[in-house]
Amino acid sequence: MKKVLVVDYGSQYTQLIARRLRELNIYSEVTPWDEISNDDEVAGFILSGGPETSNIKGNPTINQLIFDSKKPILGICYGMQVLAHQEGGKIINDGKKEFGNAKLIIKDWSSLFNNLPNQIDVWMSHGDKVVALPEGYEVIASSDNSPIAAYQNLEKNYFGLQFHPEVTHTNHGLAMIENFIQVCEIQKNWSSEDILEQIEQRVTGDVQEGKVLLALSGGVDSTVLASVLHKQLGKRLVCVMVDHGLLRKDEAQNVTSSLKEKINLDINLVHASDIFLRKLKGVTDPETKRKIIGNTFIEVFEEEAKKFEDIKWLAQGTIYPDVIESAGNSKTKAKVIKSHHNVGGLPERMQLKLLEPFRMLFKDEVRRIGRTINLSEEIIGRHPFPGPGLGIRVIGEVTSDRLHKLREADHIFLTELKSSGFYNKASQAYAFYLPIKSVGVVGDNRIYADVIGLRSVDTSDFMTAKVTNLPNDFVQHVSTRIVNEVQGVSRVVYDITSKPPATIEWE
Ligand code: XMP
Repeated sequence: MKKVLVVDYGSQYTQLIARRLRELNIYSEVTPWDEISNDDEVAGFILSGGPETSNIKGNPTINQLIFDSKKPILGICYGMQVLAHQEGGKIINDGKKEFGNAKLIIKDWSSLFNNLPNQIDVWMSHGDKVVALPEGYEVIASSDNSPIAAYQNLEKNYFGLQFHPEVTHTNHGLAMIENFIQVCEIQKNWSSEDILEQIEQRVTGDVQEGKVLLALSGGVDSTVLASVLHKQLGKRLVCVMVDHGLLRKDEAQNVTSSLKEKINLDINLVHASDIFLRKLKGVTDPETKRKIIGNTFIEVFEEEAKKFEDIKWLAQGTIYPDVIESAGNSKTKAKVIKSHHNVGGLPERMQLKLLEPFRMLFKDEVRRIGRTINLSEEIIGRHPFPGPGLGIRVIGEVTSDRLHKLREADHIFLTELKSSGFYNKASQAYAFYLPIKSVGVVGDNRIYADVIGLRSVDTSDFMTAKVTNLPNDFVQHVSTRIVNEVQGVSRVVYDITSKPPATIEWE
């Protein structure tokens, strides 16, 4: 099948490029820059961004096979710089960085900007820049900080963009990628059903014998995965849910009963909150907390798994943002932002093979698969919930008192969001506990009590996110309810930071 090859230079956004191509119904594959081979099916190349500087010897380069193929190339950020560098242009790093929104002014006609306005808001994230173009190249767009913000060589069909068309904060980014696809002359015939079919084929091919153990969190990813696997494997699928005491109010019970009712799935629920709380005592560092929760999870899960026979596989609903933010792809050099909780380490210890069919998908693609197999909107529409749960939403030390206050406050926030219709509009909303005290006045009394924060973000891929524009009245109403109803809380704050620079979770 004809494809676009995404060449990975270690950007946080590489898979986002692949995902945009799937959105355009284009089949694509992602390959590390140092593993390129001859492939007649490639109709064009997209070179990703990356954390390195392109004009330093020894840093990632463009394989000669790519040039020899004479296919169109689109370089993005690092990809744009390394293409210019290898073709004879000049790159500098003058210490000036450009992060965030910039105004792009289109200077010259380009098939890349076909049917687009002359001024476009784009998303930049770079330190180096191209200051002189190779022969045969021309500037097609500029921004304040980057006079060469986009270039082309029409004879070779090579294009470069300093900004990131793959992130949603770049207006018309998808249209630019689509315009490049037109240059590649590749047909749009890759769909959600194809993705599901590919996943099912891989699972049937891999899991020929034995049982599959699934760590179910009740979140969208593991639930959709459980359903896909349940349909294919029936009783050969064993689901275990660990209640680590860091779940939301009534969550374990709700998940187990609703999955039994909706898809007749039996879940083995393990109550383990005492162990987790004991191990988290006195710990405040976020990464240490994550590691303790992850390791304890593995211990508890392993103990439970011993009760079942003939388990050969461990299935996980890992999706791409989990992989990239933990820099789980060892072949690239994406930097670690936070280590995501999963059951990593278990497969070796238990000598199990790892099954992660959603590893390259994004949350909304998993949701689309959920819809394709007719899961209810109530399950599919759930906001994501991190593996370490409230353990990373109680900022600082995790205690049962703090967890209790947070659980109650979070329940009020989510209930209000649902009854007002805002829940389905927001991508992820939650309350968090801040380990500080603030003075308040209740009746005629001074109180000195705890602070609860609220966060709600809008995003389609969880790689970048904007704060939800919740009406002031609504937020104030939630705040009043929390302070009135949750004992020991004197103040509520609302987080107004987008991602980047902040992450969605606080820890
Ligand atoms: P951040 O905070 O990295 O979150 O911007 C991006 C998305 O990932 C979720 N998240 C996690 N999910 N294990 C998970 O399964 C984790 O350790 C974890 N940490 C963050 C987060 O809730 C958001 O949806």
